[in-house]
Amino acid sequence: MIDWIVHWPTWELMRVIGFGSYMLIAAGICLGILYSFPAAKPQTKKTRYRLHTLFTNAGMALGLAHGLLPVISIYSPFAWKEVLVPFAAVHHPVLNGLGTLAAYGAIVLVFSSDFRHKIAKKLWYASHLLAYPVFAATFVHGYFLGSDTKLLAIRWMYLLSIAMIVTLTAVRFAIVPQWKAAGMQRKMKRTGA
Ligand code: HEM
Repeated sequence: MIDWIVHWPTWELMRVIGFGSYMLIAAGICLGILYSFPAAKPQTKKTRYRLHTLFTNAGMALGLAHGLLPVISIYSPFAWKEVLVPFAAVHHPVLNGLGTLAAYGAIVLVFSSDFRHKIAKKLWYASHLLAYPVFAATFVHGYFLGSDTKLLAIRWMYLLSIAMIVTLTAVRFAIVPQWKAAGMQRKMKRTGA
């Protein structure tokens, strides 16, 4: 059985899973930001929230699988310490360390969201903003460490994901509060409050 497992193309699997995790996390963050945008129908908000949770949870699960695969790889094996302790890897300690920190950050984000009704709202929201540095860490880790970055299509996907997140974040913090305030004023006028 062990013999069968060590002959898996673990390094290739690890790369594919790592990129899949990155894309799911990027899409999940976009959906999380979109959730704070006003929506005409409550159903739209619900769908955004459901997909945000699905994508970020799946991204975290794949990220963990990707991080653990080097331990059983025969191509370039990692010791447990190199994977679990940030910046302890023999090769590219900083870039690998960012991957480890991103994985821990993703775990904190997913589990703090599961228990968010038991935490003060402001505290939960402040902790949820950790998503931005976690995403930045996964980007730097994947882009600068990944062998697939040499492929043009992959570089475009990284660029697109960054452009989407930066644009949505700018709109979210610069414009959404004004939309919401205008919507409230219209509602108050209608109800005569
Ligand atoms: C949420 C956590 C993580 C995400 C989203 C992530 C994502 C990625 C991505 C997108 C790549 C580029 C794949 C490629 O182009 O080939 C990559 C490469 C890599 N990651 Fe991670 N990673 C994470 C955690 C980790 C951890 C904990 C380790 C272990 C220290 C690790 C080790 C590596 C290695 C060694 C590579 C280079 C593979 C190669 O191209 O040869 N990653 N990662």
